[in-house]
Amino acid sequence: MSSESLHAPRQRLTIHTLTHHQAIASLMEELEAVDWYKQRADDCEDAALKDILLHNMREEMEHACMVMEWLRRSDSDWAEQMSTYLFTEAPITEVEEAETGGNGPVGGGDAQDEAAPEKGRASPPAGFTIGTLKDNGE
Ligand SMILES: [Fe+2]
Repeated sequence: MSSESLHAPRQRLTIHTLTHHQAIASLMEELEAVDWYKQRADDCEDAALKDILLHNMREEMEHACMVMEWLRRSDSDWAEQMSTYLFTEAPITEVEEAETGGNGPVGGGDAQDEAAPEKGRASPPAGFTIGTLKDNGE
């Protein structure tokens, strides 16, 4: 594991912090790869190669999202921030203001509005639902 980007002595870091360092470093690499592929695709004059570069860019996006999902599942602070900001429709700064009352990041203040998390949230998809899977004896 790369330790050149650690900002504290390794022996003083928890396994949680070290594991998250691995995930964050990997996420940074995936995002950088997305950027590189996109730029190369923009600059590429061969249509077939451009398609390949864009395909590869989308695969890097997939990798980045897989790591982001791992972060969400393994850390409640990430989960809280993602729950607040991702898949919302309102202007992002308004989501923050609604969430914090203008008092800074989510989870960092006492002024949290309990009703705010639903503000700006995209509606769940309408239509098909599965319903209960319990055997009710009928
Ligand atoms: Fe990747």
